[in-house]
Amino acid sequence: MNIPTMMNGAILPGNSTVEFRNFEVPVPKHGEVLVRTKASTICGSDIRCIYREHTGKGPEGYQKGMIAGHEPAGQIVAAGPGCRRFKTGDRVIIYHISGCGVCNDCRRGYMISCTSDQYRRAYGWQRNGGMAPYILAEEKDLVALPDTLTYADGAQVACGFGTVYEAIEKVGVCGNDAVLVVGLGPVGLACLMLCKALGAQKLIGADISSERTELAMKLGLIEASVKSVEEVRKLTNNLGVERAFDCSAADAGRQLAIRATRKWGKIALVGEGGGMTVNPSPDMIHDQKTVYGSWVTSIWRMEELVERLVRWNIHPETLITHRFPLDSAAKAYALAAEAKCGKVAVCFDEELK
Ligand SMILES: NC(=O)c1ccc[n+]([C@@H]2O[C@H](COP(=O)([O-])OP(=O)(O)OC[C@H]3O[C@@H](n4cnc5c(N)ncnc54)[C@H](O)[C@@H]3O)[C@@H](O)[C@H]2O)c1
Ligand SMILES: [Zn+2]
Ligand SMILES: [Zn+2]
Repeated sequence: MNIPTMMNGAILPGNSTVEFRNFEVPVPKHGEVLVRTKASTICGSDIRCIYREHTGKGPEGYQKGMIAGHEPAGQIVAAGPGCRRFKTGDRVIIYHISGCGVCNDCRRGYMISCTSDQYRRAYGWQRNGGMAPYILAEEKDLVALPDTLTYADGAQVACGFGTVYEAIEKVGVCGNDAVLVVGLGPVGLACLMLCKALGAQKLIGADISSERTELAMKLGLIEASVKSVEEVRKLTNNLGVERAFDCSAADAGRQLAIRATRKWGKIALVGEGGGMTVNPSPDMIHDQKTVYGSWVTSIWRMEELVERLVRWNIHPETLITHRFPLDSAAKAYALAAEAKCGKVAVCFDEELK
């Protein structure tokens, strides 16, 4: 494959627009690979912290002029010296944060919370990401993408599906459980897909957007949509669900998730930002409930998830409703910002269907 020396990459100036800049195609150094981007999906966090305005601080701080996109998957086209496992031709997912590798968080595989200010760099935030034809990645950030999964499947594994898999593993979900997911954006839908694969039979969804609720119904991921605690109780013998996930980040959404959970139930908070109003005694203490916070996942759990996706024969790309070429990235972000459709992807080559 002929690798060009220059490429166009999409950057987000922070005023709900997309700009293109010309970048050198990087040459991988020791322990690095150059990946031909095949699919790069847009996340709610991109919209909240970068696209509309640059609100993020610290780990969520976007560095001006960086190529956006923290959800890429692609194929290695060049490997630098010293690579130990991955080689040219391999299909890969990139864990979206490159960590220092030696802090306690990195050693646990949670590079998301790497404590090194000097070396923690998230793709699409503090180092160049997937909204370009090529992306330079560190070998240690790669997860092998099985042949039976598409690149569009792979792109959603790290941030979207990995995140909810982590939350699901924290609270535990199985066929015993009725599950409520509040916020039916791509993250909430991913949560439902995995809960269903794990055997949960009664899946209930809540969203203020009728389009999103309809999509969840159309995909067969929920049997009912609700707006209130009372509606959830009616569906669950007046007891509430065993497990709930907030993927809305809204105060009202979090309240619904917590209050619609039955005694001894467990709730995971996934949606990011904003606040939460709780009355600890009636909402949590007297009903013996546990609320978990869950941030992304570890790279080893991501590897396990990829194996399970194949085993369960489920495809994250089912959630993609729109695909755009890179030069239409502005349309792609604008659509994602409306928060009415499923997952929006920027695609290349065979993934541009
Ligand atoms: N914890 C993590 O590690 C992690 C990782 C990735 C994304 N996230 C966060 O997860 C959230 C979901 O991501 P997404 O890409 O699906 O975002 P999204 O914005 O597309 O979806 C959020 C959904 O919540 C709905 N919503 C808003 N207020 C509501 C309310 N009061 N009740 C019910 N629904 C309501 C919206 O209509 C929307 O459909 C975002 O906050 C994102 O930043 C967290
Ligand atoms: Zn994301
Ligand atoms: Zn680290």
